[in-house]
Amino acid sequence: MIELRNVTKYFNQDRALDNISLTAETGKTTVIIGQSGCGKSTLLRIITGLTKHDNGSVKVEGNEITDKNISEIRRKIGFVIQEGGLFPHLSARKNISLMAEYLKWSESKISNRIKELVTLTKFPNEGLTKYPVQLSGGQRQRVSLMRALMLDPHILLLDEPLGALDPLIRYDLQTDLKEIFQKLNKTVVMVTHDLSEAVYFGEKIILMNNGKIVQSGNSIELLDKPKNDFVEKFINAQRSLR
Ligand SMILES: Nc1ncnc2c1ncn2[C@@H]1O[C@H](COP(=O)(O)OP(=O)(O)OP(=O)(O)O)[C@@H](O)[C@H]1O
Ligand SMILES: [Mg+2]
Repeated sequence: MIELRNVTKYFNQDRALDNISLTAETGKTTVIIGQSGCGKSTLLRIITGLTKHDNGSVKVEGNEITDKNISEIRRKIGFVIQEGGLFPHLSARKNISLMAEYLKWSESKISNRIKELVTLTKFPNEGLTKYPVQLSGGQRQRVSLMRALMLDPHILLLDEPLGALDPLIRYDLQTDLKEIFQKLNKTVVMVTHDLSEAVYFGEKIILMNNGKIVQSGNSIELLDKPKNDFVEKFINAQRSLR
């Protein structure tokens, strides 16, 4: 479904991604994990074509991303960017409907779709007329998710969607998000730096360090068979209290 082959990305002289090859399978959740600055957001942005890679190839549903097809490919992808990225001067509803309006959906089609999404994400109806600052962090993340799902994309990319939330809200949203992923059966690529979150969501976990993939596989492989000292240290640094 999503396939990167030998992808490298430089920012000036600095190599942000170093020869990355990975696949994210259809209908599955792939989690990308690693420390701050290791290249996670850059990787997601390259999949959406928002950032251009220097070398290698990126295929989405079998088609290699090019300048020509990128806008078509982007419509198959819902993207929840780090920090949510909602427009502060637009209501929640307007944030959600923006792309559909741009694509000239009818008012009733938009309303029906928003109704579905509000139910799916358990967002309070009266929140739709509020501006992002008037919502709680958890509600804002639900709005970002609705916006990403509005056009019913095949693929959902989420960049630390639960990063800024307090533990209890985070716990609730994790539970709801997992339920949503299972219900919708979409191809999901999610970024986190939290190992327990990666294990909770990830059918496949890809651990990065310094722009490289260090280990990838299911959570049992990662936890029981760390490939090297870095992986072991990363796991031990995040061991839970229990
Ligand atoms: N637009 C840019 N211009 C220059 N350097 C950049 C740019 N975007 C990212 N970088 C650099 O590339 C590296 C990877 O950044 P990236 O944002 O992908 O990290 P990340 O893993 O998402 O980190 P975090 O967990 O803090 O969000 C960093 O060293 C960063 O400074
Ligand atoms: Mg990031």
